[in-house]
Amino acid sequence: MKPIIVAPSILSADKTKIVSEILKAEAAGAQFIHIDIMDGLFVPNTSLSLDFVKQIHDQHELVNDVHIMVANPLDLGPAYAKAGADIVTFHYEALIDDEARKLCIAKIKKAGAKVGMSVKPNTSPTVLFPFLKQLDLVLVMSVEPGKGGQAFMPNALDKIKVLREAIDERHLRTLLEVDGGINAETGKQCVTAGADVLVAGSYLYGHEDFKARVQGLLAL
Ligand code: DX5
Ligand code: ZN
Repeated sequence: MKPIIVAPSILSADKTKIVSEILKAEAAGAQFIHIDIMDGLFVPNTSLSLDFVKQIHDQHELVNDVHIMVANPLDLGPAYAKAGADIVTFHYEALIDDEARKLCIAKIKKAGAKVGMSVKPNTSPTVLFPFLKQLDLVLVMSVEPGKGGQAFMPNALDKIKVLREAIDERHLRTLLEVDGGINAETGKQCVTAGADVLVAGSYLYGHEDFKARVQGLLAL
């Protein structure tokens, strides 16, 4: 069995002590730190920035897993790669056609990061198939992007299964990540469906037993 990767989302962390919140994830055994960028256009909220990624990306040993919920990934994707993101994941829905999506993948790679593409809950996972070979990661959103603390949408499970099969039958190493409403129960369902990376925000941050929760997800 492949080891599960846990990616605590700092959207739910205490922003007044963000570096210690990231180090807490590292000490608990997480491998990624999930950094949500929102522009107020692609999603109504705004969160974090280029400067934030520049400041924190090398203050820890975790993989900087940057999820850009933005309307302009063609410019912002490479900018986040240059700011220190290890993986930049942009949204399929943010770009108008496959030409633009291919260009975005190439621009992020050229800027030095790995690339992920994400689908919102109402987008079919099959739209990602033409890009699978070029992608390091695919992200299934199991809530509407935009805020933490929402309930897991079970339709994500079928989407994970479909992508797992597509990745395996092509013999690819593309990571399959799921984001939104993840806890021990929904996390287990996602792992059973074939997910490699579990993003979790409100389930982890703000809880006394943070480390035990991370360890619990790693053991799924
Ligand atoms: C939502 C973000 C998520 C969010 C998950 O748009 O992409 O990463 O932080 O939060 P929880 O785990 O609380 O659903
Ligand atoms: Zn996210």
